[in-house]
Amino acid sequence: MNGNSVPPADEPARQYYYMGKCQKWVQSFERRKGRRPTACIQTFGCQMNAKDSEKLLGVLLEAGFAASEDEASDFVLYNTCTVRDNANQRVYGRLGYLNRLKQKNPEMIIALCGCMMQEPSVVEKIKKSYRFVDLIFGTHNIFRLAELLYCCLEEKQMVVDIWDGTDQIVENLPARRKYPFKSGVNIMYGCNNFCSYCIVPYVRGRERSREPEDILSEIRTLAADGVVEVMLLGQNVNSYGKTLDVPMTFAELLRRVAEIDGLERIRFMTSHPKDLSDELIGVMRDCPKICRHLHLPLQSGSSRILKMMNRVYNKEQYLALVEKIKREIPDMSLTTDIIVGFPGETEEDFEETLDVVRRVRYDSAFTFIYSKRTGTPAAAMEEQVPEEVVKPRFERLLREVQQISSKVCRKDVGKTMTALVEGMDTHDGRLVTGRLGNNIMVHFPGDASDIGKLIPVMLLESKGFYYMGERLP
Ligand code: 5AD
Ligand code: SF4
Repeated sequence: MNGNSVPPADEPARQYYYMGKCQKWVQSFERRKGRRPTACIQTFGCQMNAKDSEKLLGVLLEAGFAASEDEASDFVLYNTCTVRDNANQRVYGRLGYLNRLKQKNPEMIIALCGCMMQEPSVVEKIKKSYRFVDLIFGTHNIFRLAELLYCCLEEKQMVVDIWDGTDQIVENLPARRKYPFKSGVNIMYGCNNFCSYCIVPYVRGRERSREPEDILSEIRTLAADGVVEVMLLGQNVNSYGKTLDVPMTFAELLRRVAEIDGLERIRFMTSHPKDLSDELIGVMRDCPKICRHLHLPLQSGSSRILKMMNRVYNKEQYLALVEKIKREIPDMSLTTDIIVGFPGETEEDFEETLDVVRRVRYDSAFTFIYSKRTGTPAAAMEEQVPEEVVKPRFERLLREVQQISSKVCRKDVGKTMTALVEGMDTHDGRLVTGRLGNNIMVHFPGDASDIGKLIPVMLLESKGFYYMGERLP
């Protein structure tokens, strides 16, 4: 018997075994067709999904596929999101297009993974009405891509593997970073907060923190590989470490990350206002590597609605927290998420949201129309707000947010700040686009050799959401 013929039980060895199996398939494809099979991953949704897609692509490249941006590929994977219904609708719409591509290339493999696949009704619908899909898996078993793909290649029928949950964190699988100079780093998975509108705790499962040593060693490796900026990722980073055998606070983790040589900038997403500690504010204040940017989702400015949302803070507590942050770190940039039209929201409740927006003066805000997610407590609440009431509120909020943010951005004109150059300007080939510590973009003269470098820039003009700048020597 060939020593390679029994798959190892342990991870990640088992997946490397299956990557080897897939390589054999890739080689035979190449012999048949005279080219390597191509793989395209489309990511929907948040930074967590973007990070997952980098891991999925790493596995496919290790298996021998050639990466492609074109959906007319031999393997197409949609990494889906289900936080709002329009994310789901986009996936269904795009599946029709994939079906037409598959008719031209019948050997094409179509796979779906991510949050939307954790909803049983979605999987049922795909099994029934989208029979051309070859592989479906969820959020808890994405580390098994190589094994599932191999199974799909062998079985030639729809493979479905969805887990209800997991306490497993599989380390040391390959990943292909999108940018050589910056990277997301997962510090925890899942969410325990159960905000009443949110489907995330149901599709991403319970909170699990990675071991600090695993996180730190990943970041050390990234820094040695030229990464200057990391974004620590978690649904609620402020509760990092609570469930570890040896608990550690998020602030302590940040302090340790900041000690890593070569790393210039540290960001993180997302903070829940309910447990943003004084210790964290202190670490941010004292450590210049940590970017002066906090994404602090408000969701609603009405204490009554916040209670129904199960957010565990009220309007006054949120405002007091913002005041404390601004007092300790005056140049802190604040951004937020706001939902309009939560069940039972009255005009008075909405005015409270506008009031918070006017008081806090966010650098920018992501605004969402409430979307009913089946299975969440809010979906069963009476008094769902009709669309004709929500739409005008949404427009009013958007206008307010935009007016304020363009004024807030103007205050830094004339200052010099450091930009991390992320790429060439897409409209003007003589300019590059960089990200400031406060997360705002600046465009200034430069060339491709600047990409990945930190460059001091004088901010000449504010264009509302971004600046035009001039590089300093
Ligand atoms: N409807 C609208 N927006 C939602 N979000 C989460 N769930 C919903 C929903 N059901 C928003 C929240 C969250 C952001 C990621 O998405 O504002 O912070
Ligand atoms: Fe959803 Fe609330 Fe968890 Fe954020 S903190 S993922 S809004 S349940």
